[in-house]
Amino acid sequence: MTADDPAWLVATRSSYDTDAAGYTEKVRGLLSERPFLRASVALFAEFVRAAGGGPVADVGCGPGYVTGHLHELGVDAFGIDLSPEMIAIARRDYPGLRFEVGTMTDLDLPDDSVAGLLAFWSIIHIPDDAMPGVFDEFRRVLRPGGPLLVGFHVGDETQRSSEGYPGRPIDVTSHRRKPSQVAGWLRDARFTIEAEMVFGPDARVPGAILFAK
Ligand SMILES: C[S@@+](CC[C@H](N)C(=O)[O-])C[C@H]1O[C@@H](n2cnc3c(N)ncnc32)[C@H](O)[C@@H]1O
Repeated sequence: MTADDPAWLVATRSSYDTDAAGYTEKVRGLLSERPFLRASVALFAEFVRAAGGGPVADVGCGPGYVTGHLHELGVDAFGIDLSPEMIAIARRDYPGLRFEVGTMTDLDLPDDSVAGLLAFWSIIHIPDDAMPGVFDEFRRVLRPGGPLLVGFHVGDETQRSSEGYPGRPIDVTSHRRKPSQVAGWLRDARFTIEAEMVFGPDARVPGAILFAK
């Protein structure tokens, strides 16, 4: 955390610090309940193996259950999250794995140092004007040809939440986006899009996953 951090980053961090335990309860069992999500993570793991394996960053890992699942799939995954409280929970629940506090806007990782990168519903808190910089960071730290998975809510709206789970006061902004908009930013950062999947296209808030490299 630095004095130069923008207000939205500071608010996101303190909101997830406040709501870390509640969020962890909310997503408990999510991968076992959602076969499309589970299959997407498995597909990503297959791409990592096909690219030769190596360390994989779960960026915005929250309580670390996707990092843990990747590890069960044989991937050398580690987690990074903005919220120290989230990282404390991830370390508690997955004591054998590596989790670090950090921000996707300025990753503390060398160039070309990760074999794959997954951002599961974490770019949703990045405002549009900061997205190109985040995808440039992803590109910088990924080895050439390394797979990228990005998951997010689909739509046009920006939503400000003031109540966490269950009922804790927070102030976090979430951005829903069209897959084409996210794909455009990825192409601008010199990624190649491999697949776009939309989950629950008729649901109130569909989800999307883009695979790129
Ligand atoms: C909706 S949660 C998703 C957590 C987890 N990936 C999952 O799928 O359940 C969003 C997470 O992104 C983290 N986050 C938000 N902005 C971030 C940033 N700039 N850098 C790293 N993590 C960030 C939050 O702290 C939170 O843990």
